[in-house]
Amino acid sequence: MSSEVVRQNRDYWEQLAPHRPGEPVEFFRDGGSAVTQAELAVLGDVRGRRVLQLACSVGDEALSFAKLGATATAVDLAPSHLATGRAKAAALGLPVEFIEQDMMNLDPNISGFDIVYISWGGICWVPDIRRWTAIIAERLNRGGVLVISEHHPLWEILTVRDENSLSVSSDYFGIGRDGYSDPSKAPQVTQRIGTPKVPHRSYIWNLGAVVTAVIDAGLTVRSLQEFPEQDSYEGLGETSTYVPATYLLTARSDG
Ligand SMILES: C[S@@+](CC[C@H](N)C(=O)[O-])C[C@H]1O[C@@H](n2cnc3c(N)ncnc32)[C@H](O)[C@@H]1O
Repeated sequence: MSSEVVRQNRDYWEQLAPHRPGEPVEFFRDGGSAVTQAELAVLGDVRGRRVLQLACSVGDEALSFAKLGATATAVDLAPSHLATGRAKAAALGLPVEFIEQDMMNLDPNISGFDIVYISWGGICWVPDIRRWTAIIAERLNRGGVLVISEHHPLWEILTVRDENSLSVSSDYFGIGRDGYSDPSKAPQVTQRIGTPKVPHRSYIWNLGAVVTAVIDAGLTVRSLQEFPEQDSYEGLGETSTYVPATYLLTARSDG
């Protein structure tokens, strides 16, 4: 990724930071978790495992893994998001290390993980999926697992027109996009505060590209699930659950 794109994307995310604090500390204290049941079902017991969350924002999932007994490292470009995450980890007394890094240029010391995890609008900031999976394969321990829990690329390109009607608003094979042609695909907070007036570039990775990059990095695909979610296609009516909204991929390092 050119450093110019990284700088722009960081500026974009910094502007969102004050409006996107994630879950409050009380949420975690009251037993809440940002990790889904589907994720836990494929991961099993995370106690004692080393987790790396990429593009973590405020790291609510890393905090949730730590609450379950894992040791977590959380990486993001945007310092203000990391500061919020650090404050939450300190208030909760959880072992999460927040590190400011471009996930495409990870420090060699950020290595030796049992789980590498990315979710909900993280993979769309990866500019080169093949390089990204190669980096992850290097950082996983033998037997370690990559978990991608993401918006489905079909959801990324489909816009609700009215009941039972979708239109195609982006290119499934197009990869890079400057801004969002459909504002409902932008970070949800922008629907409340508007779009920051700075350029930003994100990417749509179709399922074939993701799976092939994972396999070519030497990882073994263990599962690929697609899920419907009514709220993701609000206004579509009954058929809103006929199209995939999210996916969950796991792949293991046998090397
Ligand atoms: C939608 S959030 C991440 C999802 C997270 N699970 C959540 O729900 O908050 C996207 C994050 O990606 C980060 N990001 C974008 N490009 C990045 C890069 N090259 N390296 C690391 N983080 C990046 C942004 O700073 C932002 O915090």
